Amino acid sequence: MAISIKKNKTQASRIHLCDFENIEFGKIFSDHMFKVDFIDGKWQDGEILPYGEILMAPSISALHYGQAIFEGMKAFKGADGNPQLFRPLENFKRLNISAARMGMPQIPEEIFIGGLKELVSLDRDWIPTKEGSALYLRPFMFATDDFVGVRPSSNYCFIIFCCPVNSYYPKPIKVKVEQKYVRASDGMAGFAKAAGNYGISMLPSMEAKKQGYDQIIWTDGRTHEHVEESGTTNLFFVIEDKLILTPALDGNILEGITRDSCLQLLRKEGYTIEERKISIKEIIAYAKAGKLSDCFGTGTAAIIAKIAAIGFEGIDYELPPAENRKVSNWLFKTIYGIQTSTVKDEFNWIEKV
Ligand code: COI
Repeated sequence: MAISIKKNKTQASRIHLCDFENIEFGKIFSDHMFKVDFIDGKWQDGEILPYGEILMAPSISALHYGQAIFEGMKAFKGADGNPQLFRPLENFKRLNISAARMGMPQIPEEIFIGGLKELVSLDRDWIPTKEGSALYLRPFMFATDDFVGVRPSSNYCFIIFCCPVNSYYPKPIKVKVEQKYVRASDGMAGFAKAAGNYGISMLPSMEAKKQGYDQIIWTDGRTHEHVEESGTTNLFFVIEDKLILTPALDGNILEGITRDSCLQLLRKEGYTIEERKISIKEIIAYAKAGKLSDCFGTGTAAIIAKIAAIGFEGIDYELPPAENRKVSNWLFKTIYGIQTSTVKDEFNWIEKV
C-alpha cells in the first residue's frame, strides 16, 4: 500500500539555532514532524508539517489512563553523506507489540517506515556527525477520543519527531539497586514501550538521585532478588572479560534492539553468553571477588552506558575505570561504527533512507 503524505514545509528553518558542537539530549527539535490520525477504524493520509504544538482535547485517555506508546530510534549519515537508519523494522515491529498490549491499533509498515523516511530525508541537515551523536527519532502513538470513560479509545494519533542528540549519558553512571518499588511483574506490560512504564520510574529515580545515584536497577516484583533493567536501558554484566550475563526476556523487560545487536555481535566474537535470571547477590559476589570486569546498559539513546558503581544495601561497588572496559568499549565502537558506516555492516542492520 503506497501512502499519501501531504507536505507542509516550514517557511523558517531553525537549524541555525542548533549548536551542533554542544547538543544537550532532547532539548532541540528539527524543523518538521510526521503526523497521521487513526479515525473510525482507518489510518488517514499522513502529513509532514513544521514541528510544533498540537491541539488535543483535555479528556483524551492518553493523558488520563496512559494509552500511549513510543519508540526510540536513530538516523546517521553514512559514508556517502546520505541519511541511514539502524534496524528500523525492529522498532516498527516493537511499536506494534506495544500497541497490541495497550489495546491500540496496529500501524502499517508503509506508514511507519514511509513517514520516517520522508521526515528524515527532509530534515537530513539536522543529522549531527560528531562522534556519538545522531538524529534521535521518536515515533509515538496516543489515544485521542474526547471521552473520559475508561475504555479503549477509537481514535489515535501517530507522530514522529526528531532531535539531534549526543550520547544520553556523557560519562559512566552510578546505579542503585531498587528494592522497594517495582516496574513490572508477570502479566503486566514490562515488555511494552508504554509511557506508564517510564512514568512510574520517576519517583524511584528521584529518590536515587537524592542519594547520589544517576539511575536505578529494577529488580523483580516478587522477590526483589533478580535484576531486570535500568530506568532507561537493558543490562549486561561481564565476568573476567569472558562470560556475559544479561537478564532473559521474560516479559518483564523491554526487548531492546541495542540489547539484541550486542548479543549478536558478542556471540559472533565467541563470548560465552548466559541469558537468564540473574540474582543481584551473584553480581555482588563477583564484584567483591574482583571478577566483575565490566557492567553496562544498552539502549537506543544511550547506545552503551558504562556503569561506574552499583549501590546495593548501602554499599557502592566500584567497577574498573572506563578506559579498561574491553567489552563495552568494543561494543560501542562496533555498533556506532556500523551505524555510521565506518565498520562493515555484516548483519544488514543499515537501511538507507
Ligand atoms: C531510548 O533509548 O530510545 C529510550 O526510549 C529511552 C529513553 C529514556 C530515552
